[in-house]
Amino acid sequence: MTKPTHVLFIGATGSIGRLAVAEGLAQGYQVRALVRDAGRARFDARVDVFEGDLTSVESLKGALDGIDGIVFTMGAHDGPSMVEKIDYGAVRNALLALDGRKVRIALMTAIGVTYMDSKYNRDYQAHDWKRRSERLVRASGNEYTIVRPGWFDYNDSDQQRLVFLQGDTHRHASPEDGAVARAQIARVLVSALGSDEADRKTLELIAEQGPAQADLTPCSRVWNRMRPARSMAYTMRRTSRSPPSRSACSRISTRFGHWPDHEDHTAIGRRKTMNIRKALSACLCITALALGGCGSTPSSGDTSSASPKSESSRQTATDSSKGNSMVVVYFSRAGENYGVGNVKVGNTAKLAEAIAKETDAPIIEITRNEPYPEGYDEVTSVAQDEQRDNARPQITLNGDTDALDSADTVFLGYPIWWGDAPMPVYTFLEGRDWKGKTIYPFCTHEGSGLASTSGSIADATGATVKTGLAVRGTDAQKNADKTAKAVSDWIAKAGL
Ligand SMILES: Cc1cc2nc3c(=O)[nH]c(=O)nc-3n(C[C@H](O)[C@H](O)[C@H](O)COP(=O)(O)O)c2cc1C
Repeated sequence: MTKPTHVLFIGATGSIGRLAVAEGLAQGYQVRALVRDAGRARFDARVDVFEGDLTSVESLKGALDGIDGIVFTMGAHDGPSMVEKIDYGAVRNALLALDGRKVRIALMTAIGVTYMDSKYNRDYQAHDWKRRSERLVRASGNEYTIVRPGWFDYNDSDQQRLVFLQGDTHRHASPEDGAVARAQIARVLVSALGSDEADRKTLELIAEQGPAQADLTPCSRVWNRMRPARSMAYTMRRTSRSPPSRSACSRISTRFGHWPDHEDHTAIGRRKTMNIRKALSACLCITALALGGCGSTPSSGDTSSASPKSESSRQTATDSSKGNSMVVVYFSRAGENYGVGNVKVGNTAKLAEAIAKETDAPIIEITRNEPYPEGYDEVTSVAQDEQRDNARPQITLNGDTDALDSADTVFLGYPIWWGDAPMPVYTFLEGRDWKGKTIYPFCTHEGSGLASTSGSIADATGATVKTGLAVRGTDAQKNADKTAKAVSDWIAKAGL
């Protein structure tokens, strides 16, 4: 890693941004502060105050000139559209403005950012947009550290000892999740810029009883022991009625001066992560809750009777396919799976076939060059590792790939694995030009619905992503009529 020298602070006039700017100076960086109104900005004379607009890519291009590090601390509180514009938009616009040039990034989001079912997130979608900004940073290829602080300045005066956590397991949506002083957040963000070990790490930051560490040198050791993080087990956490206790959380925390060795740490992490079989059983028990939370099952047709294609949807599909070519692309895995036994054709493959039949579209399968294990337990473990590593396994496309090049409507299918699409789907998405294309996602699952995959697909491609279809894997595999009805309802609603 090359330590940056010239750092742009976005969100510089906010309560943490101001402290981060001061910290940047204290740590010897050349500091530039992005501000809306230079006349009103009050900074140390050494700060290069740049008047600009974080909602404008053009404006950020100027702000980023000569910059090799960025600290993002911005945050909006005025409802979903402002959160999208500021929390997510600033990251998106800065990355666009960089146009592929690499910088070191420190991004502040929030503790509990993977918790979607809180009132706060339902009202403001703040976690959703922050999570998407995290994904953009991870996918950008830049070196980065993502810091998810606890509640600002809710710590007592004797709680100064910094604690780093991973896995985002705190679920109270209140200061009980942990608190930390604003100045400490600023300090960790800026310290991360100069740390090799902090590169590609996501951590939650809280303070516990005890004095502040005199210096952050031990950070290097902390970060070194952390995994590059992707969100783990969304499904489990979103549907669980009883979040892990605080003591359970602190068992996996990583503390200065009291480190489990690497093996122990991994083992504890594994114990903490509920076995996926149990997680899926839990999903099944509280299906209604899960689906309500996901809001992502537009077609949940209950009919089990034969459902002939609706004439109108068939007609529309034919008409639109004249001008707008369509293609179905999917990833699926045959073998042992949850609730269906050992199958020769995967659940998503069955759903993909139903969509291809309904739309007369050609079908393309994404396969991982090195096949996944056939056993259920084995694949869950491989999939989880891949997700943690944000891996991009090599893939092959089987089918009419010319149709894919010329199509402007792509139905993209995958199973939900650990609350996300399998990593080969991201290999596929990131390896293509999506300009002018529209994606209709579809998935099979056992409780998660589409989870947040529509947003992830939009982030990975920049394409227009339309309302998706989520079908239970067991239905896709065993109930062709119900699946065909769900598909024809979805296609009709989409007006295709
Ligand atoms: C590795 C793995 C992880 C899974 N994770 C989830 C999950 O997080 N949420 C969920 O609802 N279902 C989960 N499932 C269940 C699958 O989404 C479901 O069985 C799907 O229909 C499999 O599709 P396929 O046969 O096309 O691979 C998981 C299954 C596997 C094998």
